[in-house]
Amino acid sequence: MSASTAVRGKRISRRRFLGGLGIAGTALALPAGARADVPAMPGASSGKTPTVYATLYDLDRCVGCGACVEACHERNGARYPEPIKPFPDLVPAGTKNEDWSDRRDVDDRLTPYNWLYIQSATVDTPEGPREMHVPRRCLHCANPPCANLCPWGSARRETSGAVSIEASTCLGGAKCRTVCPWHIPQRQSGVGLYLDLMPRFAGNGVMYKCDRCADITARGGIPACIEACPYDVQTIGPRDAIIAEAKRLAAERGWHLYGLDDNGGTNTIYLSPVPFGLLDAAIPKGPGRPHLAPVADAMRDETRLAAVAATAPLAGFGAAMLRVAADIREAAHNDAPGAHSSHAMGKPGRAAAHRLSAPTAIDTITPHAFLHPATSRAVRAIWLACAIVLGFTGLMQMPIAARYGMTALPGLAWTGDFHVTHRMHYVFAALLLGLGGWLLGKALRQRAFPALTREGWLRLGLVAGLAGTGVLRVLKNLPDVSFSPLLTLWIDLAHLGLAVALGAVALVFAFTGRAAWTRPRPPAGRPPA
Ligand code: HEM
Ligand code: SF4
Ligand code: SF4
Ligand code: SF4
Repeated sequence: MSASTAVRGKRISRRRFLGGLGIAGTALALPAGARADVPAMPGASSGKTPTVYATLYDLDRCVGCGACVEACHERNGARYPEPIKPFPDLVPAGTKNEDWSDRRDVDDRLTPYNWLYIQSATVDTPEGPREMHVPRRCLHCANPPCANLCPWGSARRETSGAVSIEASTCLGGAKCRTVCPWHIPQRQSGVGLYLDLMPRFAGNGVMYKCDRCADITARGGIPACIEACPYDVQTIGPRDAIIAEAKRLAAERGWHLYGLDDNGGTNTIYLSPVPFGLLDAAIPKGPGRPHLAPVADAMRDETRLAAVAATAPLAGFGAAMLRVAADIREAAHNDAPGAHSSHAMGKPGRAAAHRLSAPTAIDTITPHAFLHPATSRAVRAIWLACAIVLGFTGLMQMPIAARYGMTALPGLAWTGDFHVTHRMHYVFAALLLGLGGWLLGKALRQRAFPALTREGWLRLGLVAGLAGTGVLRVLKNLPDVSFSPLLTLWIDLAHLGLAVALGAVALVFAFTGRAAWTRPRPPAGRPPA
């Protein structure tokens, strides 16, 4: 420990907290030792609009004593996994169990039993070698890919800004670890829900990581590692205040920040006198030992695509309805005295006249009266493309795809990147929703819909369910939307169940010659269009 750090350590408060916004400005302007001590997080349990909290690590203060790591163990030890052994014999052969239960004391990396560790390194700076210590744990991203892409909604972003993994529903597929830019969550086999489902065939334990002491912060307390640090390395407070303070200190001292913009912004900001490029080069990296390199926003495209998926049905509907104005103009023109008789009696004029004179109720009509055969073929082709791509990309987003070697099949290596299949799913979902909006708009415009077979109605219902649950999944993935874990689980299960049901009925209908969606004629009693 350097003398200056020790002196600094003595004069600072034991718990650093940037309180309510009202006092934050004053507290921030004071020297460290004069800052107000606030033992609890205001607003955390008050039931008011939830505040997003962030933490600031001042790496200049950290001496690597490990008191925070110990405090984390003490506070969270009761939540560490107690696996049941022997572990299930996993299928396919070669699928490995991950077991840390006999190495609980490992503290030089992240494990299911060590959610925080100190990365220490001697960094070659222009001023000479310098010993640096970086406490590493989950950064609690503002738009976390681990939570957005968790198939079961077990990983989730709390309204406080913390990201947690619900141990009781996690199946241990480790997708969160794969999509986390720092590969933070760690797996322990032999524990969790998968043991009660299909232990040999799906799932492989539970993922563990720092949840910013969710149980303590839910009661308005301060995370154990912050409380325990003798050198007040960490500060916690409302995100805006923390960011303002981090920027101010960095500008004032000419220091460097990490986590501010990385992965689109996190709720853990590191402030360092040493550039992060040098730190990253010096620290040991590998499994359980995250890097400090710049990270692009993993969810940026998904958030944009979500906006596309949300507007696609409106765009399709709008495109169909735009024709109404043109039809009215056309009908008015055809009815005008002196209009050319052959044009007035031609197909467009008749169709428009039918639409304008049709009753307000929706008629059922023959498929050909609803869509031109060429348009009908195009609609069928788009639907088939959407169904195949959506089913395939949905399947490849599930961790079992990699486990069963599907991503290793020749030509399918690209499907191993969840972000690629996820983006494709969004693009084709937008196409399907756009098509749905257009067909609905057309039906309303014509005030008629083709008569569906029973099989057609069944599939339409399943697709509508998929679209509804899909839209909810898209919403859940947006940075500012948070669903309860149970609701998220049900939405996920419903989407998956509907997809499986649609695939099954489509196959049965195809093999039993009942693939037609529409009847060649409307049911008796309905007038043809
Ligand atoms: C034929 C239609 C569709 C099929 C067969 C299908 C299939 C699937 C499957 C199998 C999954 C992975 C299973 C799961 O994690 O629950 C999935 C995930 C997902 N689907 Fe669909 N889906 C369809 C339509 C849609 C639509 C219309 C949307 C959006 C409006 C949508 C949005 C999503 C989202 C957001 C996910 C989660 C991806 C993630 O966050 O990792 N899907 N889909
Ligand atoms: S953050 Fe504090 S408690 Fe943790 S290693 Fe650094 S000085 Fe010690
Ligand atoms: S650091 Fe990784 S595990 Fe933590 S919230 Fe971000 S993506 Fe998730
Ligand atoms: S916030 Fe809590 S769970 Fe996270 S590292 Fe600190 S003590 Fe551990």
